[in-house]
Amino acid sequence: MKRIAVLTSGGDAPGMNAAIRAVFKKAVAEGIEVYGINHGYAGMVAGDIFPLDFKAVGDTVRRGGTFLYSARYPEFAELEGQLKGIEQLKKKGIEGVVVIGGDGSYHGAMRLTEHGYPAVGLPGTIDNDIVGTDYTIGFDTAVTTVVEAVDKIRDTSTSHHRTFIVEVMGRGAGDIALWSGIASGADEIIIPEKDFKFEDVVKNIQEGYENGRNHHIIILAEGVMSGAEFAEKLKEAGDRSDLRVSVLGHIQRGGSPTVRDRVLASRMGARAVELLRDGIGGVAVGIHNEELVESPILGKEEEGALFSLTEKGEIVVNNPHKADLNLYNLNVDLNKFE
Ligand code: F6P
Repeated sequence: MKRIAVLTSGGDAPGMNAAIRAVFKKAVAEGIEVYGINHGYAGMVAGDIFPLDFKAVGDTVRRGGTFLYSARYPEFAELEGQLKGIEQLKKKGIEGVVVIGGDGSYHGAMRLTEHGYPAVGLPGTIDNDIVGTDYTIGFDTAVTTVVEAVDKIRDTSTSHHRTFIVEVMGRGAGDIALWSGIASGADEIIIPEKDFKFEDVVKNIQEGYENGRNHHIIILAEGVMSGAEFAEKLKEAGDRSDLRVSVLGHIQRGGSPTVRDRVLASRMGARAVELLRDGIGGVAVGIHNEELVESPILGKEEEGALFSLTEKGEIVVNNPHKADLNLYNLNVDLNKFE
């Protein structure tokens, strides 16, 4: 393979730049040229494709966001979009693609491979909800950002003996809430993967204050409900504490990546190039027990594929991501009163 391209797709995540840089530098070391595709699949279809060079990737390892920009582009799920994209790749003589993004981005990579353009997926999202990997690029930075914010909220919560509901991102997954909750010493973590009763939360808040606690921090995953709705329901269930809601929002997506995210992104970017160099596409790179692993994106579950097709042609996830409920139980234990 003489020329490949790289794109970022879906919600951006800190460390995406480090991954692009690693793809470029590893490819150069292998004698392969690299083109950047701006704005994900939308840019591929529009032909927004340009040669990367050392200047373009310089000073990017430490920068948040993605200098190739990102977009959500559902049109690439349709054959028409895919063929248009491929036409643009052909024009530039591109033979393989590295796609950095989430589930939807992987599906695009799979289609490109089916059309004869080997594509490799790298998991880039703060949510940590991608199958085939223990950690995604951006997750560590996002939870670090959340913890910094909650530490500050805790100061004011303590000063005023207030209860705070801190709404964090994660889409349908509770990972950001779990990790940031443990790391910030949250009094309660509410995630989609674990049922809870408002009455129990109210009781915990009351008991906490009665036992001398001077704050109460609840980390709420957005996949459960919004912070405002949660506050409303808590009051309906009898909470009388001085309650505030803090929605952290998109600050969780920005900022300079942590060491872990930079190293993870660099390792994964380099591995993607090795795979394409060897003519391998239709796979996603992940990390499992600190080792890089590859899984076929589409295929049979028993062969380790991340997704399978039903008889009706729908894509199903084989082993859906599961948040680590040991962390949930640990937090419950850490918050018990005598
Ligand atoms: O997938 C990353 C993520 O930040 C989710 O945590 C969140 O639900 C969503 O993207 C927000 O998307 P947008 O930036 O399009 O509003």
